[in-house]
Amino acid sequence: MSTAVPEITFDAFDDDHRADPYPAYRRVRDAAALFPYELDGVPVTLVTRYEECAAVLTGSDWGHGYAAGISPFRDTTAAIPGSFVRMDPPEHGRYRKLVAKAFTPRMVADLAPVAGRVVDELVDTALARGGFDVLEDLAVPLAVAMIPVRLLGADPADGARFREWQLAIARGSDPDSLLDEAAVSARTEAALACMGYFGELVARRKREPGTDLLSQLTVGADGESLTEAEVIGMSLLLLVAGMETSINLIGNGLLALLRHPDQLETLRARPELVEPALDEMLRYDAPTQFTIRVALNDTVIGDHEFKRGDGVVVLTASASRDDRVFPNADHFDITRYAGPRPARKHLGFSLGIHYCVGAPLARIEAAAAVRALLDRAPALRLDTDTIEYRPSLIHRGVLSLPVKV
Ligand code: HEM
Repeated sequence: MSTAVPEITFDAFDDDHRADPYPAYRRVRDAAALFPYELDGVPVTLVTRYEECAAVLTGSDWGHGYAAGISPFRDTTAAIPGSFVRMDPPEHGRYRKLVAKAFTPRMVADLAPVAGRVVDELVDTALARGGFDVLEDLAVPLAVAMIPVRLLGADPADGARFREWQLAIARGSDPDSLLDEAAVSARTEAALACMGYFGELVARRKREPGTDLLSQLTVGADGESLTEAEVIGMSLLLLVAGMETSINLIGNGLLALLRHPDQLETLRARPELVEPALDEMLRYDAPTQFTIRVALNDTVIGDHEFKRGDGVVVLTASASRDDRVFPNADHFDITRYAGPRPARKHLGFSLGIHYCVGAPLARIEAAAAVRALLDRAPALRLDTDTIEYRPSLIHRGVLSLPVKV
């Protein structure tokens, strides 16, 4: 049995939705939980509501299917050794286990003061100028300091190159059919340059190991040996999965706060709400808007039958605005995740076996940035009426966020 085609037309990836895709998500979500769609020239199903998205993300009948050769999606990263985000078990678990070690509570506790110091320095400089761009002056240098430099052990002097490479790769992570030729070749060049850089770094760390994750993976501290190509692929994944997203959490999250002065005031009065506020930011305007999955077996969601090899687009940013699960879902409420009965888990970090492994680091970075601005910029306000967004669709983030202090 298949779902009746709803009588609305909807293009999830229309440029017109860029400034605010949520009304369009609501229209399609209210029309159907499963919506027929086409991506990269392939018929797929758009999954729009929370319960159905969660069922796909956590269901063992769903995965990526590249190794089995059944994916209808083109994905250039699926072929990179060690880049486990598009892998299925058991390969996925083998790699993920090694990286998860970097995000133990202990390692994370060690990283928090580092993020605090980086933010303090950046905020000192920004405040001295009277106004600044939250993206370029705070979120970007913070992400560079934490991910390529601290986590992977790259030279801080190479920060600008990482930002450039990461942007080209992030733009290129949209489905190929939505990219022009220049974006595709920029992605390829950036990935090659970045892998070349990590290749040299791996060779150096073999001779002189440091304390970073790249050194641990390279020297196989836990008796688990990875090839150089795998370490390089994993490093690329961490850079790409971690930078654009954590930058956009700070950008989208602060924008939401600045557009809801009552919420900003509540947060100033009750700084213990910073952690729950981060969850609300991830629910309300997620840096990652959707992901893809493939039926690994014949299976059903609701009354819809999927055949092995069928592809779906899991519209997580729509699911996180689903009123069926989040009352008054379009309302930005920083207390939603506070107290003894917090809201259901948003899908900002996904769910299931691919749940964001870097979530603790993302929280540390964003909490440090938000806390510093609350403490040190009591008159913080937006310095523009027009907010422009980057062209990416998987990634949602503003081009710049000018503020006055
Ligand atoms: C606010 C910031 C972040 C957001 C919104 C975010 C979002 C996500 C999402 C939605 C997924 C799952 C994709 C899927 O299910 O297909 C994911 C996976 C992943 N993230 Fe994050 N992420 C963030 C920060 C980070 C950071 C800082 C790192 C590391 C430095 C990181 C590393 C990863 C990795 C390696 C995966 C793949 C996990 C797996 O496949 O098992 N992320 N992230």
